[in-house]
Amino acid sequence: MRPFLKWAGGKGQLLKAFAARLPEPIKESKAIPRYLEPFVGGGAMFFYLKTHYQIGQAYLFDINPDLILCYKVLQQQPSALITQLAKISGEFAQKNKEERKAFYYKIRTRFNKQRQTLNLQVFNQTWIERACLLIFLNKTCYNGLYRLNQKGEFNVPYGSYTNPRFYDPENLKKIHHALQDTQLVWGDFEKAKEFVTKESFVYLDPPYRPLNATANFTAYSRQGFSDQDQKRLAVFYKEMDRRGAYLMLSNSDPKNEDLADNFFEVLYQGYRIERVPANRSINSDARKRGAINELIIRNY
Ligand SMILES: C[S@@+](CC[C@H](N)C(=O)[O-])C[C@H]1O[C@@H](n2cnc3c(N)ncnc32)[C@H](O)[C@@H]1O
Repeated sequence: MRPFLKWAGGKGQLLKAFAARLPEPIKESKAIPRYLEPFVGGGAMFFYLKTHYQIGQAYLFDINPDLILCYKVLQQQPSALITQLAKISGEFAQKNKEERKAFYYKIRTRFNKQRQTLNLQVFNQTWIERACLLIFLNKTCYNGLYRLNQKGEFNVPYGSYTNPRFYDPENLKKIHHALQDTQLVWGDFEKAKEFVTKESFVYLDPPYRPLNATANFTAYSRQGFSDQDQKRLAVFYKEMDRRGAYLMLSNSDPKNEDLADNFFEVLYQGYRIERVPANRSINSDARKRGAINELIIRNY
């Protein structure tokens, strides 16, 4: 089982480092009675854990409405989604390079028009088409980015990949099963509060604090995620710590750029802060792609 979307900040390559740092009772029992992920994104950690551990109840949150919609469609109507993806995949396969590009922009326009009349509150048939369009756009657009302009329109250009794989029914079926005992919530991470108990394991992967002014890839939603939000998250972390939950948080290490930057040391003073090497694939500056550190902050 793999994430069904490419997602900025996807955690694929750090999973081994996270697994080595799971709470001892989870490592021993291979079971996680209650799992929460307040910034689920592409869900690399959730899908990994679901494959290797017995997860009781799971709660996944994200502020991106299209993303949560897509998860809900996979949870409830996978066959209808797979049928629509098969159709679009067949059409795409028959086109030449230029036609594929034109097709991409046609789908992008349809996706943006749909937004104007979309009911995000109640599951409806339009959601199935929207999930299909999102998966297609995500796999064929430039770098799998999800970016909206000021008007709230998805504006990522075509990616020109030779063989984009957006039709993978077997993986989608596995994901459908993985989502069965899972509650999916659209909203701010603080919504997770009401579900966190003493038995919970919470993995937090907030948008990166930008390493410098230009490397700003944290605009997953129009609101962005400011230093003020990072501070609000630290307050949340401390509150959940007092509740007795196991907490693991990852973020970019500001010391990659500036050794004197103690932003996270100050925010998470008294917790266990570690640095692990990571290859960041999304960086506007090609020279900065390569080994840099990622932070892992635990309360155990
Ligand atoms: C670094 S990404 C998570 C990546 C994920 N771990 C993966 O493997 O794909 C951060 C996610 O947080 C979401 N997000 C941003 N602000 C948020 C907020 N205030 N509350 C909840 N989610 C938020 C974004 O939409 C994005 O999907």
